[in-house]
Amino acid sequence: MPKALPSPQMLSELNPDAIPRHVALIMDGNGRWASERHQPRLFGHKKGVEALKKAINYALKANIPFLSAWAFSTANWKRPKSEVSGLMTILRHTLEKDIDEFHEKGICLRVIGFLNDLDKNLQKIIQNAQERTKNNSALTLIIHFNYDGRKDMVQAVQKLSEKVKSGEILSESITEDMISQNTLMAEFTDPELLIRTSGVVRLSNYMMWQCAFTELVFIEKNWPDFTEEDFHGALLKFQKTARNFGQVST
Ligand code: IPE
Ligand code: IPE
Ligand code: MG
Repeated sequence: MPKALPSPQMLSELNPDAIPRHVALIMDGNGRWASERHQPRLFGHKKGVEALKKAINYALKANIPFLSAWAFSTANWKRPKSEVSGLMTILRHTLEKDIDEFHEKGICLRVIGFLNDLDKNLQKIIQNAQERTKNNSALTLIIHFNYDGRKDMVQAVQKLSEKVKSGEILSESITEDMISQNTLMAEFTDPELLIRTSGVVRLSNYMMWQCAFTELVFIEKNWPDFTEEDFHGALLKFQKTARNFGQVST
């Protein structure tokens, strides 16, 4: 993992009482980054892993307890076969080779998405990585893989309607919390800050339910160029923004 860490001076700019509990990253622009360098798209995805490690280092130093990173959406299956299989290989390598480093750093690794649709061997590797790091508490790294926000909502609705059908609950007693508790992100709190790189300004079906009140920061740089300074800048921006939740700013 890269050694460069945010300087103590950088960290002292942060308000320690307003560190977000959960930050989400839409790691976008790997393909464009590679194309600009006349390289295959997979070259950009590989560089993207290095950028994620920088983001992890920053999250550890800034005491952010939960970091989500979107690595593969259900829509990404529509990409050329070679790119899809390359992305699967990158996840496998990361979970097999980088896991020691993650473990040493106290990272609890979670992979969230529709995992049953993945190759059985990859599912086993995910299970092993989660099992190995499950007692770590410095940072929970949530890798969203084969994730789809709407599909997650549909599943939550299906689970709740089953409960209505069986008489376990009444439809009129369904609450927001019950919906949250039936999504793939049930055990995690909602992200307070979301960062998307590459200048694209949209959620692309990422955690729409969970991001209702999330501060969205869009960065022009492509993901492989994302640095700890960029993360720091987004965090400072977050700390300067009043979060009103519909109320009048104090
Ligand atoms: C984000 O980079 C990573 C994945 C979606 C897997 P892209 O691959 O979307 O890169 P661009 O947006 O085409 O440049
Ligand atoms: C979102 O990026 C998915 C990931 C970062 C994994 P995309 O590049 O797939 O999203 P669109 O196609 O620009 O909406
Ligand atoms: Mg993209």
